[in-house]
Amino acid sequence: MEEIARQIARVLAEDGALFLNLSSTGTDPWIAADVAGRFRQRLTLQNRIIWVKSISINGETRGHFKPINSCRFLNRTNEEIYHFTKRGDAVIDRLAIGVPYQDKSNVSRWKQGRDRRCGGNSWHIPYETIRGKAGRHNHPAAFPVGVPLRCLGMHGRKGLVLDPFLGSGTTLVAARMAGWNGIGIEIDDVYAETARQRTAEIRGDESRVQTVWKG
Ligand SMILES: C[S@@+](CC[C@H](N)C(=O)[O-])C[C@H]1O[C@@H](n2cnc3c(N)ncnc32)[C@H](O)[C@@H]1O
Repeated sequence: MEEIARQIARVLAEDGALFLNLSSTGTDPWIAADVAGRFRQRLTLQNRIIWVKSISINGETRGHFKPINSCRFLNRTNEEIYHFTKRGDAVIDRLAIGVPYQDKSNVSRWKQGRDRRCGGNSWHIPYETIRGKAGRHNHPAAFPVGVPLRCLGMHGRKGLVLDPFLGSGTTLVAARMAGWNGIGIEIDDVYAETARQRTAEIRGDESRVQTVWKG
């Protein structure tokens, strides 16, 4: 993991960002923090985001999660996204992923004059539907396209996105939708082919290159 951190820091643009999505388990609740810690020597943790897959508010549940059968652990309804940058001072576009004000009098109160405020570091992004393996593009760990889309939006400046563990290609799908260039690396032939097909299906700026490399 240290070598991965070293290589990512080497290729990252000066104003670039690494969005590292990690999940722990009931029996090892430290995994996410431990893995993120391996990047600490090379990069600066600028934001820590909780990706909420499902939440219950006032007795109503929004979103889905995979229930576990346990008398010890709660169902895990979130994962973490660590936003690393070179020095912790990269400018982000908070309003691009912001939310409207509840109290509209705030619109004129703030200098930017838009009905938009920062939505915070808890992102409720449910899976689109309850899915079996096939519904997740034949990948057991595919995330919804809303996750990379929000990361790209928060970063703001369009550029080149690299996903060195591409899986079924969700990051490149988001890149194409948002008009970014993208490169993906995937070790598994079947997943790489799925990624190729998924990105080819997305209409975007056709001049933008989407490359899937076999890792
Ligand atoms: C957690 S999955 C990524 C899922 C992806 N976010 C999606 O939405 O489909 C991680 C992927 O990394 C791939 N992988 C593991 N080791 C790799 C390596 N050394 N080089 C390239 N890909 C690798 C696995 O085959 C797996 O598909």
